[in-house]
Order: sequence, then C-alpha cells, then structure tokens
Amino acid sequence: MCGIIGYVGKRKVSQVLLHGLKKMEYRGYDSSGIAAVSAGGLKILKSVGKIENLERKYSETPIEGIAGIGHSRWATHGVPSEINAHPHKDCSGKIAIVHNGIIENYGELKSDLIKKGHKFISDTDTEVAVHLIEDCYDGNIEEAVKCALPKLKGAFSIVCLSSDEPEKLVFARMKSPLVVGLGKDEFFVASDVIAFLSFAREAVYLENGELGIISPEGLKIYKFSGEEVKYKTSMILWNADMAEKNGFKHFMLKEIYEQPASISNTLAGIITNDGFSFSDAHIDLDLIKKVRRISIVACGTAYNAGLLGKYFIEQIAKIPVDIDVASEFIYRESLPCDDSLFIVVSQSGETADTIEAVKKVKSKGSGIIAVTNVVGSSITREVDGVIYTRAGFEMGVAATKTFTAQSLVMYALALYLAEAKGILSKNAIAPYIAELKLLPEKMEEILKNVKNIRRVARMFHSCRDFLFLGRNLNYPLALEGALKLKEISYIHAEGYAAGEMKHGPIALIDCDCPVVVIMTKSFLYDKVISNIKEVSARQGIVIGVASEDDMEAESYTRVLIKIPSASPYASAILAVLPLQLLSYYIADVRGCNIDKPRNLAKSVTVE
Ligand code: G6P
Repeated sequence: MCGIIGYVGKRKVSQVLLHGLKKMEYRGYDSSGIAAVSAGGLKILKSVGKIENLERKYSETPIEGIAGIGHSRWATHGVPSEINAHPHKDCSGKIAIVHNGIIENYGELKSDLIKKGHKFISDTDTEVAVHLIEDCYDGNIEEAVKCALPKLKGAFSIVCLSSDEPEKLVFARMKSPLVVGLGKDEFFVASDVIAFLSFAREAVYLENGELGIISPEGLKIYKFSGEEVKYKTSMILWNADMAEKNGFKHFMLKEIYEQPASISNTLAGIITNDGFSFSDAHIDLDLIKKVRRISIVACGTAYNAGLLGKYFIEQIAKIPVDIDVASEFIYRESLPCDDSLFIVVSQSGETADTIEAVKKVKSKGSGIIAVTNVVGSSITREVDGVIYTRAGFEMGVAATKTFTAQSLVMYALALYLAEAKGILSKNAIAPYIAELKLLPEKMEEILKNVKNIRRVARMFHSCRDFLFLGRNLNYPLALEGALKLKEISYIHAEGYAAGEMKHGPIALIDCDCPVVVIMTKSFLYDKVISNIKEVSARQGIVIGVASEDDMEAESYTRVLIKIPSASPYASAILAVLPLQLLSYYIADVRGCNIDKPRNLAKSVTVE
C-alpha cells in the first residue's frame, strides 16, 4: 500500500515522478504528492484523489530539480487530505520524506519530539520520521537518516530529500519493499519496478535493514549498522508494454484476455519432456516422500487459489492439506507436525500478513516454499524455494490472470507430489499434462464468446445481492466469483459451498437474488442439481456455469453460460473465466472504477 518514488537525473524530475506514481496507483490512490528542490528551496505539491489531480496542479505550478520524491497514498493514519498527503516536511521546511508502511511507535516518538519543540501538522505516523531526522540533522542528511532509523519501529520504506543537498536522495527499507532502478546517468528508487520500467532495465532490490544513497555520482548501499553492502544488480524481465492497456478499456479486461498466454508461460516454466520440474523451489524429494501434511497460507484471491490447491493435492497426491488466511494463521496456535511442508501463495510477494506467516513458519523450523508472480519480492527472500507464476505484471487491483496461473501451479504441484510419492506413474501423468497444454486454447474459446456473458451482466447488474455456489473443486471458484463481484461492482455477494447453503444463505433466496452455480461435470453433479432445485423452489434465479457437453443443464437453470468440456480438474481452472467476465461487465454497466475499486489496494503491506 502506498507507492513511493524518488528520481535523480537529467529528465524533468516531476514528470518522471508523476509517471511513476500513475503506474503505482494500484498501490493506493486517495491522495498524492511530489517534492523537488529548485532555486527557491524545497517545493511540495499535493492533491487529494487521483494522480490526474496532482498532474493538473503541476501543470499550473510546475516544480523541478535534479532530484525529487513522490508518493501515492492509501490512508492508514489520518483521513485522505492534503495535510495528510506525503511528502511531509520538518519544521525548518528543508527536509521532506515519503513513506510506505506503518511506524508503530509513532505515538511515543511524537510526544518526545513535541516536548523538544517540534510542530506537527498532520495526523500521520510518517511525520514523526521527518522530525526525527531533523532532530538528528547536523548538515549531513545521510548521517541524520542513519541516526534516526534505529529509533523507528514497524514497517517502513522511506525516501528523503534535503534542500541543503538537492542532488541527493537517501532511502531505507525495513519490511516494506524498495527497489533501485539503474538507468544511463539516472537513478530511480521506488516501491515497485513498474514505476521506472520505461527508463531502466537493471534493478537492485534492497534488503531489510539497508539504507541507500543515489546522487549523480551513483548508488551506495549500507547496512543500518554502517557497513557498506556490495549490491547485486538484476535484469528487469518485465517490459513497459505490460503496464499499458493496449486498446482495452481497463487493465482488468486486458488481464482477463492475457490468461491463455499467462497459462502457456507459467506451464513452460514448470514443464519438462515427461513431467514437471520446480528447480527454483528446491523441493527436496526425500522430504516430499516423507511429507505427512501440507499447510497453505495466503490472503484474498491467492487464498482461493490455495484452497483449490488443497482439493488438487488431497485428491491427486493423497496428502492432507490445511489452509489458513495469513492474518489468522499468524496469531493462531498452530500445532507443530513433523514432516510438514508449508506453501505460501502471494501474487505480489509483499502482503504483510503473508510475510509474517512465513516468519512464523521459519521460526518453527518447517520447510516453506512460495508461489508468487514477482521476482525479487520480499517473500522470495524469506522462503526455502519459489515457484514463479509467469503471468506478467498484473495492474488491475482485482486479480485475474494470477489466480489462474496460481491454480495451474497448484495443480501441477499436486501431480508432481503424486509422482514423487509413487501414487501416479509418469505414464499415468501424461494425459493430465496433455490436457493442461490444451487449456490456453479452451480459454481462447471462452474469451471469443463473451456476448452471452455481457447479456447476463446487463440482465442482473442492478441486483443487490448475489450468491455463488459450488461443491468440491468448484467451491473455491464460488468464493473467487463472489470476491470478484463485490470488489469491483460493490454488489453484496457471498460464495458458499453449495451443500452448506441450506444452513443459512437459503434464507436470502427470493426472486430478486441471482444464484451463480458452478455446475461443471464431476462426481458430485447430482448433488449440485439437488441444490439448484432447492434454489429454484424458492424462486431464486439460477445462473449456471456448465460444461459444453452438458445437455441437461439448460433444464435446471434460468440462464446458462457454457464453457468447453474438460476434466473436473481442468474445468476448475477454466470455469473462473466466465465469473471474472461476469463481474467485469456488471461493474462496467454500473459505471464503476474497475481498475481502482474504492478502498482496495493491490499490494497490502500493512497488517
Ligand atoms: C489484496 C488484493 C487482492 C489479493 C490480496 C493478496 O487484497 O486486492 O487482489 O488477492 O491482496 O495479495 P497477494 O499479493 O498476497 O496475492
């Protein structure tokens, strides 16, 4: 949450900052600001709302300099307002900082600083950091930041600018992401590489407890303790095109349409001639043979993909799996079990709760692997091994292509575990792999045929409540379908295990309540039909998502969306596409801000 950026170079500094902030708007977008030092000293521009509002201010009163900092905010401490927007400055008006994270001890620091005569104007936790730096300041900004850092508790990444050294930025990272971009005679620092993809191809990922300086002389990185760090540069694999809509009305729609490619790429990364390989995951085959329990931990959409993974792994590899949302897992008394393997699923690799879960698992000494989309993200540096989804950059706040890529990885992992444990032979796995290779083609078919889904969206866009039902492999899809709808259209939606409906949600069903039932063919088909009949008997409107070859489905449902026929496993990856499209088109008809739904952020870096 919150996007921070800094730039040192010869381009128009504010334009680089505004460009970067727009690219990072998915991290937070209730207010924004930039600062640079020109002949007249430190200048700050702030605005409430979208970055366009800040751009408008900039076009009226441009500010420039050699170095500058910027911020887009997702409010934690203090309402969205110009006063609470970053950059924040010290009493002298010479030092400015931008911050991502939460300074947990800001209350006590603030009282001490007030006693020393510092004047605060905002309600933010961030403002204490800049006054603390001022308190340490003796003409050298680098030393002042070094002196202030040990006093801050919590999660933070900061970038600091002083009008006394206008060509230099000092930055630091503790638990919130920060990456440096190396261009030709220019330097960037930001919460995410997406901010400078158009300008730099090399990056340096800061570790927790590191502080850096960029100036026209170059980049230096130190540990908080003062020791210089020999940093490693990495090539940036994503390109600037990924952060453009390329003719689509919204990033979400573009990303829905990118799923065939994202599935092909993810598959290419894990498939071999006759099976799967997870070399980056460093999965120890001896451990796998002994694994008695798998625990999956994740949040949001990643949790739903993890839940699908539970069904895949239990059914295919016959290993018991438990699953938790990370925010519960970290404070739960989880009972230790020998020979257990933990899997965390996180698109961004930066979700604060998931990172805390990883730390908890590590402290108990269990093995842990991550399924993530972001190379170099915080989680990848904490775990024993990583399986990358190769979905490409996902810009829409509502996750789509990363859900299907995560689901694919969980399915492949289940097959891999089954083979490693001797449950399935290589020959037995071959038909599953052959079917996986057909997924992109089948997805294309769904995407070519959206007319019906748009029609359904127009029919039901004004409903107040939706229910999504599914059993077994389709239950996680019901959760994901409901999550997508509420995230972007603000319609109340609940995802339920179809068999559990009679224990509560059935009370909501009436002639105004659409009930989306994922009813692809499986051993539980008849039971799903019974649930549909229970809905219809109460005048509920059944919208079915069924397999193409299901000739009965029409007779059970009011409205039907068909998807290409596949095995129940492959169907579970395919059937989410109509749900994503239905939510998208409903939100579009309702005129919602689809890529930036209210109150949500893509990367949730606070607990
Ligand atoms: C936020 C996003 C969701 C995402 C969740 C977990 O809530 O809006 O789309 O599923 O965080 O994020 P992660 O990056 O850990 O998958």
